Amino acid sequence: MKRIFSILAIALTMLVSLAFGQPAFAEVSAGAKIFNNNCAQCHAGGRNNVVAAKTLKADALEKYGKNTVEAIALQVTKGKGAMPAFGKKLSADDINLVANYVLDQAKAGWAS
Ligand code: HEC
Repeated sequence: MKRIFSILAIALTMLVSLAFGQPAFAEVSAGAKIFNNNCAQCHAGGRNNVVAAKTLKADALEKYGKNTVEAIALQVTKGKGAMPAFGKKLSADDINLVANYVLDQAKAGWAS
């Protein structure tokens, strides 16, 4: 009886982590990793160390029309002003991941 319970518990844990935990977590940390490796030197904590007004915070993204994954991905791919283009350095998938990460962090207020 005890054994059945532990098998059930393990199966349930696996199911829950498959359904909710793992993929979402992997995606977030992949985006965070790309951000830390490529963006953080200018945008740590969602700030902008080069053009101070153009932060990655929700209000600035909205003001400058960068509050969609598409707009962020486009700017990351092509660059703008003093921001370098990443189209040759990062894959389209990575750019998509990092754009989603930026938007998620902006919505969450860059707390972490
Ligand atoms: C060398 C510094 C530098 C790096 C590295 C950099 N950026 Fe930028 N970023 C800038 C500058 C400068 C601007 C303002 C560009 C402008 O509009 O003149 C900017 C603007 C932005 C904006 C628009 C913000 C707004 O309020 O308009 C987004 C989104 C953005 N960067 C995302 C990223 C992402 C994601 C990465 C990494 C893949 C990255 N940046 C890497 C310098 C950088």
